[in-house]
Amino acid sequence: MKDRIALIADDEPAHRRMLGAALESIGMQCRYAVDGEEAVREVAVFTPHLLVLDLRMPRLDGLGALKRIHELLPTLPVVVVTAHGDIRAAVEAMKLGARDFLEKPIDIEELRAVALDLLDRPGPAARSPAADADQDEPRSLVGISSSMRQARETIRLAARSAATVLVRGESGTGKEVVARAIHELSDRQAGPFIAMNCAAVAEGVLESELFGHERGSFTGAEARRRGRFELADGGTLFLDEVAEMQPHLQAKLLRVLQERCFERVGGVTPIRTDIRVVAATNRIPTEEIASGRMREDLYYRLAVVEIVLQPLRERREDVLPTAHHLLKRLKPDGDPRLSAQVASALTRYDWPGNVRELANVLERSLLFAGNGEIRPEHLPPSLRALCSQQDAEPITETGVRPGVPLEEVERELIQKTLMALGGNRTRTAEALGLSRRALLYKIKRFGLRDG
Ligand SMILES: Nc1ncnc2c1ncn2[C@@H]1O[C@H](COP(=O)(O)OP(=O)(O)OP(=O)(O)O)[C@@H](O)[C@H]1O
Ligand SMILES: [Mg+2]
Repeated sequence: MKDRIALIADDEPAHRRMLGAALESIGMQCRYAVDGEEAVREVAVFTPHLLVLDLRMPRLDGLGALKRIHELLPTLPVVVVTAHGDIRAAVEAMKLGARDFLEKPIDIEELRAVALDLLDRPGPAARSPAADADQDEPRSLVGISSSMRQARETIRLAARSAATVLVRGESGTGKEVVARAIHELSDRQAGPFIAMNCAAVAEGVLESELFGHERGSFTGAEARRRGRFELADGGTLFLDEVAEMQPHLQAKLLRVLQERCFERVGGVTPIRTDIRVVAATNRIPTEEIASGRMREDLYYRLAVVEIVLQPLRERREDVLPTAHHLLKRLKPDGDPRLSAQVASALTRYDWPGNVRELANVLERSLLFAGNGEIRPEHLPPSLRALCSQQDAEPITETGVRPGVPLEEVERELIQKTLMALGGNRTRTAEALGLSRRALLYKIKRFGLRDG
């Protein structure tokens, strides 16, 4: 039980101490959060094994926190603490995925028993009834940022129609994940999902790959062959890197999209096809159109619905949820964890290769970490450097300039420390030699951001 971490979220210090003592007495390590916002953050960074969550808290209340925590770590067992007789809140919390509840005043014995029981029975991935009702939620696309939520919502709506979808985003942002999600959620799910990377083959080959060919239509065409447009009949055709297509093929594609009809290479018989097209590109369509590489009319045909995936560095709040998701995928039976330093470095790194790079880094790190926690020494050099940077970057090097009002220096120092420590107030207070209370007061007075 010693390596089991419990997170206790309660705004009352005396309560926190009591709950902590009870869980320590069964051998757990405890961490604390004083409000809902902090609870969400601590869950993201420390992936605890158990969360005891008071429902009545400032800033973000327990139910609000529970919703967000559930998105971050759907399997985390949560015990909520409710006011005596507040059965409505307890029921609400259970609906949101809490596994048990305790009424105030807390019976220590009961808490211990509930905790031991939950740790014993990891249970099903706690699924909320809300999630069950939302069968059409694209669950494969992880992320809590508003842009990811919006992407999921658009996928959900697009899946219900037969509209053509254009997915845009840098390499590794999940364009193919989106295409598959649309297919899986659509009424074509039983049909085929056929993918074609338009940049991967020479033009002539691409044409016959897409449209098929009749026997003898060109040297080497010994048999009649069906193309992807035919193979995808009744399903979804994913045209990856569509902007790389040559103009003459763009014209042919446009015609299929308009008429749902085409001929094989060397053929004259029109073939009808019932497909939904999802296309993807990592280029900026307006630029491609301006430079004459992409037909404008094709762009408008493809982008009936457009989904733009933001690079990971522009939605840093998604890094840890995505990392936890990928770790689970890489090690379904294990319990892989990130050290706090690693979590912070991952969040600060720029991820030029986006989620694919994150997946690669985690895979490599797991190799080195074995069954233990992923620590800085398991990371590749570029990320390891970020870990030590945080240590080596003395907090006194925050641009103290002669003649700047002390208050301004203090404000800047606190803000930078908060950012450097991932918004963790307890650690920021420690680093600055302040009491938590004093820090909270200053954050409020200076109107600082702590995210
Ligand atoms: N939001 C996400 N949630 C979960 N996994 C993701 C997400 N985005 C990407 N991935 C994972 O990252 C990897 C890369 O995703 P994908 O292949 O869809 O990227 P892409 O945008 O098509 O990249 P490219 O342009 O290089 O082809 C895959 O392993 C995918 O499962
Ligand atoms: Mg791709």
